[in-house]
Amino acid sequence: MAEQALRRPVTVAITGASGAQYGLRLVEALVAAGHEVWVMISKAAHLVIETETDVTLPARPERMAQALIERSGAAEGQIRCFGREDWMAPVASGSGAPSAMVICPCSTGTLSAVATGASNNLIERAADVALKERRQLILVPRETPLSAIHLEHMLSLTRMGAVILPAAPGFYHRPATVDDLVDFIVARILNQLGIEHRLLPRWGE
Ligand SMILES: Cc1cc2nc3c(=O)[nH]c(=O)nc-3n(C[C@H](O)[C@H](O)[C@H](O)COP(=O)(O)O)c2cc1C
Repeated sequence: MAEQALRRPVTVAITGASGAQYGLRLVEALVAAGHEVWVMISKAAHLVIETETDVTLPARPERMAQALIERSGAAEGQIRCFGREDWMAPVASGSGAPSAMVICPCSTGTLSAVATGASNNLIERAADVALKERRQLILVPRETPLSAIHLEHMLSLTRMGAVILPAAPGFYHRPATVDDLVDFIVARILNQLGIEHRLLPRWGE
């Protein structure tokens, strides 16, 4: 991988909804597909990662990137991480942001902030940039049940061109493990991004 040119960067923001594994697996799958991955992890997401997985990620972006490179087998420089208020990061501007951003998992807090254009941290700003530039924006919320606030924000985001892809795995592929459930969602995200994968057979295959 180190010798090959990397494919277009994809931004992955992991926020503090349950389902940290979806986001971590998505990073791995993008790395395996040869993409550069630009990662942002919210403060709450660090807590969720610690609660739900055995993964420990340092808070400092450079060290976080190194830890993600080591766990995913990425090439040096294939993963970049940006801090909460790193307003100089390329994702903060239409001139530097990648063509696609995925917020996975997406907390209802971040969902609401994106729907209303709050831009109070770099994740929210990067999503705001994706919307204003008409780039691909995929949000993977995990909450149940959903309130009218959540549903209204999802509807307005859909109308703005974002894709709401709930972390709601199907069972028709007969999942035997938690990894199978996680891969179901990650496969759906990769399908949206138009990225080839072998995580799951496509319907009818
Ligand atoms: C273990 C844990 C699980 C959580 N699960 C969810 C969840 O499934 N969905 C959600 O919207 N928020 C969930 N939260 C709450 C969010 O983390 C919280 O609202 C936070 O402010 C979100 O901030 P962020 O969007 O900046 O990550 C959870 C928090 C913790 C600690």
